[in-house]
Amino acid sequence: MQSFVQYAPTEIVFGKGAEDRAAELVKKHGGSRVMLVYGGGSAVKSGLIGKLEALFDGAGIACTSFGGVRPNPLVSLAREGVKAALAFKADMILAVGGGSAIDTAKAVAHGAANPDIDIWEFWKGARKVEKSLPVGVVLTISAAGSETSNSAVLTNQDTGEKRGINTDFNRPRFALMNPELTYTLPSFQIACGVVDIMMHTLDRYFTKDESNQFTTEAAEALLRVVVDNGPKALENPRDYGAMSELMWCGSISHNGLTGLGVMTDFSVHQLGHELSGMFDIAHGASLSIMWGPWARYTMGEYPARFERYADKVWGITGGNAASKGIERTVEYFKSLNMPVAFSDAIGVQPEDVIGRLALNCSFGEKRLVGQFKKLNRQDLENIYRMANE
Ligand code: NZQ
Ligand code: ZN
Repeated sequence: MQSFVQYAPTEIVFGKGAEDRAAELVKKHGGSRVMLVYGGGSAVKSGLIGKLEALFDGAGIACTSFGGVRPNPLVSLAREGVKAALAFKADMILAVGGGSAIDTAKAVAHGAANPDIDIWEFWKGARKVEKSLPVGVVLTISAAGSETSNSAVLTNQDTGEKRGINTDFNRPRFALMNPELTYTLPSFQIACGVVDIMMHTLDRYFTKDESNQFTTEAAEALLRVVVDNGPKALENPRDYGAMSELMWCGSISHNGLTGLGVMTDFSVHQLGHELSGMFDIAHGASLSIMWGPWARYTMGEYPARFERYADKVWGITGGNAASKGIERTVEYFKSLNMPVAFSDAIGVQPEDVIGRLALNCSFGEKRLVGQFKKLNRQDLENIYRMANE
């Protein structure tokens, strides 16, 4: 086995009514003045924000609410959140929502603990996060896995950059996960979540080093469970079993477990972030578009891994199994009504856009992307061109 460090400190309360324990968890993790961070309104409409405010009020916890986070969350709004958190003297930030609310909460926590630093400095890589406020989560969508991950992704609308940072300061202290809170999700968001959960697993799975057997088999099991439950969730979003499996897989897919001892790849995420940064498309949609072209382009690096994937996840064996596994995956995305090419989402793009996407994704040719195949600007351009149909 390859060596690894596992650090997954988030306390998880999973199941019906989990959010009822918010005040208890806030106190346990040292909060007395809590700022709730939420999105465009779904958590208000469902009554969740009001319920949490009442719970805190009853428990003697001071609280203030900060809404308006949008998908592909903006650094500009997070800066406003920092100001609000400082004015309120918040000692804990509680995200209520999905990846966008959670990542904004993480940014607010870093900013409030470092009031002299503009938060984009962290996302630019110019400064390292060395302290932060504690963050808790009430999860309402199974997708990004931010409730347990060490990542946070923000978009800078001035530059069109969408960037993530990884640090253990991004790990939430606790996550309250009630699958019933996801019953109100639109079909498109459920499908985006299915793709994202699969992609957190696939972006770790494709490696040439197969020495960590449990890592590999845990990833395959997770993929099978998600593939099985995705259509059930779309068919009936009130299917508690399906919504529970997706919620739990979402967290496990991105807390590190499915990549222990592996040089993780994450090319598809990087390719997708440029698309979302330029065209503001949903994260899951950017991934379903980019995975097929990435897989077809890189398969030749180590076809045995793709053959294994085809067999263990899709039950495909025999001739051309590697390619068939890729095409089966793309068909699955289509069956969820997810886009698999530019024309499905943003239209076919002119050549100069393809060039710009590749240049940006390579950080102006300053980095190679991925591990399975290290992709230079030309490779990235080739892959974007394959998606441009
Ligand atoms: O804003 P509201 O009104 O809440 O609506 C949201 C939003 O429109 C809606 N929604 C969420 N829960 C709902 C609901 N609608 C009805 N009922 C509910 N229960 O869903 C929409 C999407 O929400 P969002 O938070 O954007 O979704 P997701 O969890 O997919 O997060 C996506 C963001 O996370 C980043 C992505 O890049 C993207 O910016 N990621 C963060 C990661 C991390 N921090 O570890 C890893 C991921 O790879 C990803 O990059
Ligand atoms: Zn993702």
